[in-house]
Amino acid sequence: MDRDEFICICKSVPYGAIADAVDAGAQTYEDILEQTGAGSVCGGCIERIDEILDRLVVR
Ligand code: FES
Repeated sequence: MDRDEFICICKSVPYGAIADAVDAGAQTYEDILEQTGAGSVCGGCIERIDEILDRLVVR
């Protein structure tokens, strides 16, 4: 996935910002919300963020 691809349109949060948040310790959607603001407006991106977390987070 392209680091510049927007995942959250409302808050202009690209994939790279979510990947960086995971690298910095984010493990849940709530962590991503806290660190990037993604998902705080319409909520339409939450499913995609969850999919990204499933791929990136080592549980
Ligand atoms: S697209 Fe993320 S809150 Fe609307």
